[in-house]
Amino acid sequence: MTLDGSTPAAPMPLTAFGPGSVVVPPPGDPATFPALQAEIRELAREHNAVVLAHSYERPEIQDVADHVGDSLRLSRIAASAPESTIVFCGVSFMAETAKILSPDKRVLLPDLAAGCSLADSITVEQLRSWKAEHRGAVVVSYVNTSAAVKAESDYCCTSSNARAVIDAIPADRRILFLPDMFLGLWLQRVTGRKLTIWLGECHVHAGIRPSDVAEWHRREPNAELLIHPECGCTSQVIEIAGDEAHILSTEGMVTYAERSSADTFLVATEVGILHRLEQKAPGKRFVPVNREAVCQYMKLTTLEKLRDALRLGVHEIDVPAEVAARARVALERMIAIA
Ligand code: 13P
Ligand code: SF4
Repeated sequence: MTLDGSTPAAPMPLTAFGPGSVVVPPPGDPATFPALQAEIRELAREHNAVVLAHSYERPEIQDVADHVGDSLRLSRIAASAPESTIVFCGVSFMAETAKILSPDKRVLLPDLAAGCSLADSITVEQLRSWKAEHRGAVVVSYVNTSAAVKAESDYCCTSSNARAVIDAIPADRRILFLPDMFLGLWLQRVTGRKLTIWLGECHVHAGIRPSDVAEWHRREPNAELLIHPECGCTSQVIEIAGDEAHILSTEGMVTYAERSSADTFLVATEVGILHRLEQKAPGKRFVPVNREAVCQYMKLTTLEKLRDALRLGVHEIDVPAEVAARARVALERMIAIA
């Protein structure tokens, strides 16, 4: 079933697409970090490369990157970076997005196993069947999708601008929103629009439970709550905490914490963001509501793999030109909408 009760044209994936066989390397020895980071900076200069890192990456990767941010910020930087090589410390859909937006650049992903359970929750064949069942609908895809799925979409969005993207679509158009059901449900609530929502989820955010937030809210009643809209607990948390709950993208959390006068924040998203929050809002206290909220895919990139990516020119990401041309239309709409 889709969330509007219609029958799907293909089996719907209400499963957690966990990372299964992904083996996360153990934490590195901090004593080795400065030398590796210096080597990486030198290689990046030599190869005219810019290093981009998502806020869920390991702290030592964030510290060596030229730019750290959320999906929207990094997409915008990838689209306009002057360097001839982009090394993406993130997951594969991010590197694909960078390649689509900058087709003449070399885009490297340090570990090809860095996938995404949410992106895996819909295939292009499933999307084609779904579209066939809802002819004339506007397709809005979260950026956490494959290039082939983006190519079948009218708009892409990220958690930073999903609301603005929905608001930009004429009110009389039916919208298919995919693949994250929790983001879709939150969008229905804040836009007042009826969406037809695919039942996909991110295994990390789906694992953050309302009880995690309720328990911390009880212990820290004066703390502000920062919640990513991919979280399975979003709607119940709004019921628990009302106006104290701030539903934000990862970059939105950073900006909010920098500006807020509060000194303690409860954070409901992947724990890699804590490093960035602590860097950008020093002196404030950030408490993860669930310390187990770890994206194994994001933790695959180590300093050694980043160094080798630059040294050996691996792993180069390519997107077939015809797919890229169609996906670019949806992505450029995403980049253009604030
Ligand atoms: P943002 O960084 O865009 O908030 O998305 C979170 C995420 O899950 C990225 O994979
Ligand atoms: Fe994908 Fe979830 Fe990992 Fe983000 S945190 S990359 S949505 S699996």
